[in-house]
Amino acid sequence: MRKTVGWQWEASSSILRRTPLERRDLRPDDLAVRVDYCGVCHTDVHAVSTRDGEPGRPLVPGHEFTGVVTETGTAVTRFTVGDPVAVGNIVDSCDACAMCRAGQENFCHAFPTLTYDGVDRHDGSTTLGAYSREYVVRDRFAHPLPAGLDPAAAAPLLCAGITVWEPLYALGVGPGARVAVAGLGGLGHLAVKIAVALGADTSVISRSPDKTDDARRLGARDLVVSTDPEQMADARDRFDVVIDTISAPHDLGPYLRLVAMDGTLSHLGHLGPVTVETTDLLIGRKKLSSAGSGGRLATAALLDFCAQHGITADIELLPSARVNDALDRLRRNDVRYRFVLDMSDLD
Ligand SMILES: NC(=O)c1ccc[n+]([C@@H]2O[C@H](COP(=O)([O-])OP(=O)(O)OC[C@H]3O[C@@H](n4cnc5c(N)ncnc54)[C@H](OP(=O)(O)O)[C@@H]3O)[C@@H](O)[C@H]2O)c1
Ligand SMILES: [Zn+2]
Ligand SMILES: [Zn+2]
Repeated sequence: MRKTVGWQWEASSSILRRTPLERRDLRPDDLAVRVDYCGVCHTDVHAVSTRDGEPGRPLVPGHEFTGVVTETGTAVTRFTVGDPVAVGNIVDSCDACAMCRAGQENFCHAFPTLTYDGVDRHDGSTTLGAYSREYVVRDRFAHPLPAGLDPAAAAPLLCAGITVWEPLYALGVGPGARVAVAGLGGLGHLAVKIAVALGADTSVISRSPDKTDDARRLGARDLVVSTDPEQMADARDRFDVVIDTISAPHDLGPYLRLVAMDGTLSHLGHLGPVTVETTDLLIGRKKLSSAGSGGRLATAALLDFCAQHGITADIELLPSARVNDALDRLRRNDVRYRFVLDMSDLD
């Protein structure tokens, strides 16, 4: 086994603690990656919260990272030592099912191997995430990081970015489309940048009126305050696509009422059971959809698109030793708009 170090959840103290970790020896199609930057996703907050007080499996979060290849397995041809790479929240899939054959490994019928808290399909071990100095990943699930993208600010593209890119792209968002992004956080601010770059007329739906200037700076036309019934009523039926990135359970009704006839609400944020009043779909023949992460092809397309349009996340870069602050502040909605951890302090 290879030795490294990372930030592991410690249930007894409810914090992440610097911990020695082991990575597998390289398989023929593996890369060893020195993790330089890892984004802090709200999913990491959900992951540690549900683990609170429960020992269980080891938990090292982190699933959107950039770094440099330090070693390659014997069968690797796409990468060499020194290549800058980016990895997201899927690190393996079955390769054989219809979804994998269609390039949608994120929907693998045998379930994709998640970057952390997943089960390695070969040795059955629990995957440990990229809040760590080294990650070992199957080469197919590493992406060359395009030159010109800042590696720290590009890290969030690999979860937040791809999660909003797939539905925007699949729903045909382009010039003339009217898009609203609900929740201006990590996913939300990238959804705004990407929708604007695709040519859509884009708005933000937010509880936070103090984000109005930021919304405009990101390219949005306006910010509709979700707690203001009058503003929500004025926005009725206004959008072809509503991308819902809200991180807490919420009633979908008010957001469905913003969708235009035959339009779609894409629910990406807080996952789990939701109750829908069917008349909110019936009136206007509206569609409710979801998505998550992205396939390898879509991830490569997103990275190209972002390189072409100069899109990266708006980040606050912190030494990885501040990971517990980052999670606390993210819980309190105190980030504009993504924390990224600099892993060099783990050396
Ligand atoms: N489907 C997937 O594959 C996938 C991938 C990544 C993340 N996620 C999930 O997507 C969600 C967003 O992640 P993120 O990293 O973007 O989180 P984030 O940075 O914390 O942003 C979430 C935003 O939701 C809004 N919000 C938070 N609590 C709210 C509440 N109680 N009521 C209404 N709005 C609220 C806030 O925006 P305003 O201040 O503008 O209201 C906040 O900025 C999380 O639940 C995460 O687990 C899903
Ligand atoms: Zn994520
Ligand atoms: Zn599959």
